[in-house]
Amino acid sequence: MVILYGLGSHSRNIATMYNIPMDEIEVIIDNNLSKCEPYYGMVISWEEYLRRRTEYRSTQLVIGAKYRFDEIREEVLASGLFGIADIIGIEKWAEENFVKRRLLGQYIDERECMNARILSERVGSISQKLLEEAMVLCSRYEALDRLPKGGRVAEIGVAYGDFSKEILTKMKPEKFYAVDLFCESVGFWNNGLFEESQMTHYEWYADRFSDYISSGTLIMEKGFSWDVMERFPDCYFDYIYLDAAHDYASVEKDIIQIVKKIKQGGIIQFNDYTFQEGYGVIPAVNRMIKEMNAKVLYYCLSPNGYADLVVQMRKQEL
Ligand SMILES: C[S@@+](CC[C@H](N)C(=O)[O-])C[C@H]1O[C@@H](n2cnc3c(N)ncnc32)[C@H](O)[C@@H]1O
Repeated sequence: MVILYGLGSHSRNIATMYNIPMDEIEVIIDNNLSKCEPYYGMVISWEEYLRRRTEYRSTQLVIGAKYRFDEIREEVLASGLFGIADIIGIEKWAEENFVKRRLLGQYIDERECMNARILSERVGSISQKLLEEAMVLCSRYEALDRLPKGGRVAEIGVAYGDFSKEILTKMKPEKFYAVDLFCESVGFWNNGLFEESQMTHYEWYADRFSDYISSGTLIMEKGFSWDVMERFPDCYFDYIYLDAAHDYASVEKDIIQIVKKIKQGGIIQFNDYTFQEGYGVIPAVNRMIKEMNAKVLYYCLSPNGYADLVVQMRKQEL
């Protein structure tokens, strides 16, 4: 397992750029938590890491930020916790990793692609045929008013539950699965919501939706989205809202599961269909639409440019 140290809010993008498998990252350490965005569910401070060390599995590799690598190295060595672990700077790691992978012929071209826009050009745009019935909506909430009600629904990446509340109220699902890492760490939630209440993310969300949980409507699923989704039967969901990790590699991993788990004719709403912050949602979603011949229903505008795209899977033709 790998620890990323000191790469702050760029950790996810750096992991994608430098080909660090997301599911091998045990934890992201950064002492300037205010810089890390809330969805970096794995970010904790070094102090917290030391306090909770026993909860983590064995770390074989610590990858540190370049600009304060010596400091990080000293801190890590002084802790005496990483007997056999390698401590390496990100640049060095990238260099070795790229060379190694190239030699082994395992180099994944897309991971090399540091810029989601370049990748998107390679994937190409969605054909007009798949967009013919699409509508532009004023917001992502507007889509919920227009989608079929009831059924089995999953929201992947729920955070504080603000959008969960909208889905529950507007779509009235029979079953609603709330999927999130629900990390035990409270530090990265900068608004102090959880700290004030002395609750973990999991407890906080469970408390907010306790009525839906006790009625059996809402089920909380903790873990990496792709692992959680894999456990459901195929063709299970009527509607899935995806808003978890936003780097290309993670979205692609989520999509691999989602297209198996959604029913024929089911609907998927992708949040953050944007290039902002280097997000890789656009190329991953466009690729899926093209490969699955899925129909675009709505493009939902957002004042800050973080649009949603709503697509419907094809029903198998007899
Ligand atoms: C942007 S927030 C979700 C916001 C929410 N959908 C809303 O609109 O109110 C992203 C959430 O995804 C979770 N997350 C990020 N990567 C994840 C992953 N790979 N698996 C599960 N959850 C993840 C984070 O813990 C965070 O709570």
